[in-house]
Amino acid sequence: MTQISQAGPAHAAALALLHHSAFPHDSWNEHSFATLLAQPGVVGWLDEAGGFLLLRIVQDEAEIITLGVVARRQGIASRLLRLGLGHAAGQGVRRIHLEVAERNIAGRGLYQKFGFVENGRRPRYYPDGGDALILSLDLEMFRA
Ligand SMILES: CC(C)(COP(=O)(O)OP(=O)(O)OC[C@H]1O[C@@H](n2cnc3c(N)ncnc32)[C@H](O)[C@@H]1OP(=O)(O)O)[C@@H](O)C(=O)NCCC(=O)NCCS
Repeated sequence: MTQISQAGPAHAAALALLHHSAFPHDSWNEHSFATLLAQPGVVGWLDEAGGFLLLRIVQDEAEIITLGVVARRQGIASRLLRLGLGHAAGQGVRRIHLEVAERNIAGRGLYQKFGFVENGRRPRYYPDGGDALILSLDLEMFRA
């Protein structure tokens, strides 16, 4: 199994490269990641096999800022998500939210597997005219 490390501002360049592979039409640059990772409550992880996850924690709520994987269907996103959800629960987070494109079959499948439920929609949220779904998960089950 590959190693997952906590990401800090020093990993901004690596994160930007991975983000470009995962989101070629909406890439965030090194500066964006350095700025994000310097913000209070933002925590990130890098999987050496080519995956990343960034969360923002504010009191007992959190959001998934971004999650992407280069080598897909090998369980990398699942490992990152389990780690992130466990970390958030350990910090006292009760509920976690995210936005995913309605047409993102892989993303929706992943979040459904973890038990996220849909509780909102932003019509025509993306530049291509697609809707965003707002999903959330109660972290009760991740608390030790
Ligand atoms: C979504 C994404 C992060 C999944 O990463 P991954 O490492 O391939 O996911 P996993 O291997 O951990 O898969 C976990 C589950 O997600 C679902 N899933 C993953 N890819 C899928 C696909 N192409 N179609 C349908 N379901 C899929 C399945 O339920 C899968 O479980 P299974 O393998 O037991 O069937 C990856 O496809 C990606 O980086 N996509 C581009 C960026 C993105 O959309 N990020 C999320 C948006 S917020």
